Amino acid sequence: MKRLHLCAALASAAVLLAACNGGEEDEMTQNEVFQRMQRQPKFKYYQRNDFFEDGRAMRLPPANTVSRENWESEQIGTGLNPDGTFVETIPFKVDMATLELGRKNFQIVCAACHGLAGDGQSMVAANMALAPPPSFHSEKLKGKPDGYIFQVATHGYGMMPPFGWRLTPKERWAVVAYIRALEYSQSAPIAEAPADIQAKLMQEAQ
Ligand code: HEC
Repeated sequence: MKRLHLCAALASAAVLLAACNGGEEDEMTQNEVFQRMQRQPKFKYYQRNDFFEDGRAMRLPPANTVSRENWESEQIGTGLNPDGTFVETIPFKVDMATLELGRKNFQIVCAACHGLAGDGQSMVAANMALAPPPSFHSEKLKGKPDGYIFQVATHGYGMMPPFGWRLTPKERWAVVAYIRALEYSQSAPIAEAPADIQAKLMQEAQ
């Protein structure tokens, strides 16, 4: 039965194609109609193409293309230890430049759903009844290893789409670093703030 349905579908598709071409292809067999893309003129790997200045048919990927293979280490690329457990802390030295990169990408990619402060306050959350994007300041997420957050950013989670295609591993780790900074900012003791900020905060609290 299934086979019959398929044949019927192919046959009607062929009729439609023929109709689009004003019936020119009436003489073609079904098989030929469906092989046209395979047989049409095209450039193959390593062929010459004078349309481009460098004469190559194969083009270089656009700048900032994310490579799925070119990792500095397994931990950086996957967020996993060799035994399959999550990497506990970000597997390279985090500095101000990392946090700046993290802030930039967090605000571009994550904040629309998780809120600028990572507290889950956003337009998306306000309009999403089913599993809204959560706050990062919950004990549950604060307690998760860095590799876990990296993993969610890479592959998505439940209703959340993946972003491994959009951010390089370094950019995803930078986002994790920034989320950790946001988490800390929500419960940091005032004594940890620089003196001038402390004075300002004390003044505001009065
Ligand atoms: C399009 C909206 C959207 C964007 C953008 C988004 N998230 Fe999410 N995120 C969600 C939703 C929705 C959930 C909850 C999914 C569920 O529970 O099914 C979630 C959940 C999470 C969780 C919690 C997983 C858990 O164990 O409960 C983490 C961590 C997370 N997101 C990180 C990120 C990071 C990092 C980014 C940016 C790279 C990001 N998200 C971008 C929608 C989004």
